[in-house]
Amino acid sequence: MTTTEDSAVSSPPRAAIKARNLRTDNWRRGPILTVLGITVWVAYATFRVFYQGDYWVADYHYLTPFYSPCVSEGCVPESAHFGRFLPDHPLIPYAALSLPFLLAFRLTCYYYRKAYYRSFWLSPPACAVPDGHPRYTGETRFPLVLQNFHRYFFYLAFAISLVNSWDAILAFHSPDGFGIGLGNVVLLANVLLLWCYTLGCHSCRHVMGGRMRHFSKHPIRYRLWTFSSVLNARHMMWAWITLASLALTDFYVMAVAAGWITDLRFVG
Ligand code: FES
Repeated sequence: MTTTEDSAVSSPPRAAIKARNLRTDNWRRGPILTVLGITVWVAYATFRVFYQGDYWVADYHYLTPFYSPCVSEGCVPESAHFGRFLPDHPLIPYAALSLPFLLAFRLTCYYYRKAYYRSFWLSPPACAVPDGHPRYTGETRFPLVLQNFHRYFFYLAFAISLVNSWDAILAFHSPDGFGIGLGNVVLLANVLLLWCYTLGCHSCRHVMGGRMRHFSKHPIRYRLWTFSSVLNARHMMWAWITLASLALTDFYVMAVAAGWITDLRFVG
């Protein structure tokens, strides 16, 4: 039996036309913006992850998501909600337990695959534009066949989103007890957006509603699948919004922790 991937890889070549492509619109804009956006984000995230400072606001218990869970022996003890057991080393991120899986989750995400295949690998750079490489093997061989592990990274990303949610709850704190500040709004908004991205994952949608013959016999799973499908329809949007929200949340926590700004307090 021929699979979709097989047929895509072995499909007939394009029609023999002289023009490189027949597109008249500005099709380069999308790939260029994608390269710029991802490059800037990766540069910022790399700097922050290895900076190992200004990630925790002791007065209000704000912890940036880039350092969550903080499990290095170098973490401030109060910021380590799940213990400190990794060695403190400049090349080991404080959140080394979660960051590799989050990176793998995003790298293997269906949307990001499309984004970097098009923009970084030009394979192809846009619809109806020839592939930048002489041969196209799809995701049928090593290493791209490993993209299929995305379904397992989903479970890990789900667990890490729970950890981020717990951080956001613990952050309702002030030196006198309960408190609410702008940092809480930022952390909470970021967590909600992360859930929108994670629960709209194609793998999540399959977990909710896949392998069922009759939706009518599984009303709860049907509702969950419907909910996931609604989020999934905007998966690209959530992918970009969460990149921005992660960086902005981290920057806000860093700015307060470093004393550049003071947190706007509503309660406590
Ligand atoms: Fe994008 Fe799963 S498909 S997170």
